[in-house]
Amino acid sequence: MEMTAFDLDRKLSDLIGFQCALVALRGVGAEASEEMLWHTLLSSLVEQYGFRRAWFGRIVNCSLRPCVSVPMDDFPVEFQPDSPALRAAALDLPVTVEERLEGRLLIDAAEPVVEERAEQIRILVGEAASMLEERRTRRRNAEALEQAKLRAESADRAKSLMLANMSHEIRTPMTGVMGFADLLASTHLTEDQRDYVDTIRSSANTLLTLINDILDFSKIEAGKLDLESEPVDLHNLVARAVALLSARAAEKGLRLTYNIARAAPAAIIGDFVRLQQVLVNLLGNAVKFTARGEVSVAVTATPQPDGLVQLAFAVSDTGPGIAAEHRDRIFDSFSQVDGSISRKFGGTGLGLAISRSLVRQMGGAISLESQLGSGSTFRFWIPAAPVVNSQPAASHDILSQPETAALPPMRILIAEDNPLNRKLLLTILQRLGLHADVAANGLEVLDRVASTDYDVVLMDVQMPEMDGLAATARIRAEIPPGCQPTILAMTAAAFPEDRVRCLEAGMDEYLSKPVDLPQLVTALRRVAERSPAPASR
Ligand SMILES: Nc1ncnc2c1ncn2[C@@H]1O[C@H](COP(=O)(O)OP(=O)(O)OP(=O)(O)O)[C@@H](O)[C@H]1O
Ligand SMILES: [Mg+2]
Repeated sequence: MEMTAFDLDRKLSDLIGFQCALVALRGVGAEASEEMLWHTLLSSLVEQYGFRRAWFGRIVNCSLRPCVSVPMDDFPVEFQPDSPALRAAALDLPVTVEERLEGRLLIDAAEPVVEERAEQIRILVGEAASMLEERRTRRRNAEALEQAKLRAESADRAKSLMLANMSHEIRTPMTGVMGFADLLASTHLTEDQRDYVDTIRSSANTLLTLINDILDFSKIEAGKLDLESEPVDLHNLVARAVALLSARAAEKGLRLTYNIARAAPAAIIGDFVRLQQVLVNLLGNAVKFTARGEVSVAVTATPQPDGLVQLAFAVSDTGPGIAAEHRDRIFDSFSQVDGSISRKFGGTGLGLAISRSLVRQMGGAISLESQLGSGSTFRFWIPAAPVVNSQPAASHDILSQPETAALPPMRILIAEDNPLNRKLLLTILQRLGLHADVAANGLEVLDRVASTDYDVVLMDVQMPEMDGLAATARIRAEIPPGCQPTILAMTAAAFPEDRVRCLEAGMDEYLSKPVDLPQLVTALRRVAERSPAPASR
């Protein structure tokens, strides 16, 4: 067959058109919709081959629904099997994606589509289908990955929550162990017995520290730790941390010093307890691992353009140092340089993990410089707002803790289901010269409160029959205003929302278990100041 110049010209322009359509199709970004992909293909076909119209229709429930059309006008909702658009189609190609017939591509043209063109269009449709397959596979994989990530995260949170709950459960019986060991220690004992009791007390203390560490760690992991924003006296913060370790340092013959740069603000806004925790962790490590020489703390402050200061704390020691290969790992939880450490020095490898999480939560960072054989320096930085006016900084001074003597007589009801805790509280109160009645659940509390005007109810939260929250709500609703007792929640529940729940139920204050004696005394003293002396009623 002879080819005319006209044929040749058309073949050439078709080939160029095919190339252009292919380039346009492949240029559709991975994030563009499937409709966009079809639209690009159809526009190219209309433009390059001069067709009147091109459709892509999806097969839904055995009928063909037009999905994309170029030009866009005149969009039927559905093609009837006998619709003119179908009957008059110059080309009607099946579209198969992932081995499933997904739809049809229809061309409306002024003249029949020659086989060569039809072949080019088939190739383009095949290309579009494989691009769709690729995208769908990628999307499914991304979804599966996201699902797996969500599952892993929720498992991780569940683990942290379980750890938090477990350590909280363990704290409750620890209250009994520690409280009674303390009481036992104050009775008349032989030298051997005193030795045993001291061992019980120090083991119990270690255990409680460990439980608290795990609780802190899991609270941070579960995203449940809230930081305070209160004025913090920097000197007091550092001096107290150093004081806490001075006895241990002195025992080992270590020099323990600190220095706060003159330029540092006297006080900042921050969380005293958590800052102290980080400092004590770092200082504790430095003292623990250093055999001779000195441990020092240095605090410097760099003003920032936004009015904040960058506070830098450096804790340096002349201890064994940490090899480069261990430097990153020691900040991970339960990680120690080697297994012999915990046998020799105790500890679980949580201190640095907790410190790093706390510092990060404060918006800062922690790092380590160390030379094997010549000591380590742990540094952490936090951004902080200096206290400018004369807000009194929280003193947290051990010396200013309340004296335990001289509480006025008051009528106290202990609501507590656990006999051990009940006895412990009774004994503590007895030592403070106070007498108390007891109730073992919420219903008993209601009975008692109805017949006696108590000044204060020490209310456990979890109790059988009726819990402390319900009992409090009933008291607030049923007892006349003049006879309402102060209600102090006493619970081992350790999350901030537990506290909120107690206050919302109508309790006045919240004390955590194990019972902290000074905290209890302070609370009772406040009660005494609030209520008139019993004799006057
Ligand atoms: N100042 C230091 N000098 C030498 N090694 C250190 C120092 N501080 C930390 N390390 C190493 O880093 C490890 C992790 O410290 P981290 O405080 O997290 O745990 P720990 O002190 O062993 O136990 P925990 O703090 O839970 O009681 C330590 O076991 C020790 O091997
Ligand atoms: Mg430690």
